[in-house]
Amino acid sequence: MDPTSLQRLVFLTSLLSCSTNQARLTVTPSSSQVFRDESVSLRCEDDSDGWTVRRNTSRDKRTECEDWGRSAGSSCTISHMDPRDSGEYWCESTEGSTSNTITITVSAVFLQSPALPVMEGDDVTLTCRTKMADNLPADFYKDGVSIRNESDGHMTLHHVSRSDEGLYKCRVQNEGESPESRLSVSEKPTTTMDPPTTSSAPPASSLHLVFRVICHLVVFCPYCISTFLMVSIYRERARGSDQSVSMAMNPSNYAEQGLDDDYDDVLSAVTTEHQF
Ligand SMILES: *[C@@H]1O[C@H](CO)[C@@H](O)[C@H](O)[C@H]1NC(C)=O
Repeated sequence: MDPTSLQRLVFLTSLLSCSTNQARLTVTPSSSQVFRDESVSLRCEDDSDGWTVRRNTSRDKRTECEDWGRSAGSSCTISHMDPRDSGEYWCESTEGSTSNTITITVSAVFLQSPALPVMEGDDVTLTCRTKMADNLPADFYKDGVSIRNESDGHMTLHHVSRSDEGLYKCRVQNEGESPESRLSVSEKPTTTMDPPTTSSAPPASSLHLVFRVICHLVVFCPYCISTFLMVSIYRERARGSDQSVSMAMNPSNYAEQGLDDDYDDVLSAVTTEHQF
């Protein structure tokens, strides 16, 4: 993209973000799954102060950091996370503006499963993780019913079908239970469904191409016009000063020759100037 239009875009973006004055909540370590007793830092990222971290849990609503953490400026630290600290966290300004919301789940055990739907016929491995290890003996449950005990904490479902869909959890002796995770199985895409997706792609890309061409035209039009003006002004001047010379020297094509050379010089100067 052209540098000036890029600058304009950056300026516009910063102007927009200035006017909305939004803070962003960040979490360190960056994970929504937190093991029990781990330390977590929440920070409101914004140029101005006056943002406080608030949360909703199953027990308290919209409570401030002072009630459950150690607050320092726009940051908030919880040194020993407890399952009861599970909930939604966000930043709120004194005027009532809010940031993004981050959902944090605290547990001693987590079931690691695919976040996206898996394809019918695939093999899926669910892993029962604790803070110390992810290969401890574990019981696996589906929709609240114990289905398997695996000595290494890994359960593999072979050739999954729609009947494998459901809420899974695992349990490790002396550690506890994981929150439930949903496993979704999607139908294998048939070959007859492929052509429509490929044929629907070209209109989108050609529309994009048209947009790009218009964009480039809009950007380059001022350059074309100014180049044309510069060349015609130079031509006008050259004709004025060469007139007397050509009168004296007489051969008229000599002036034409010189004019063409000058014209080429200007043109090459202009084009090199515009090569970013
Ligand atoms: C927090 O809880 C309050 C009261 O139930 C509710 O109005 C608000 O939408 C909740 N906020 C979030 C981010 O969940």
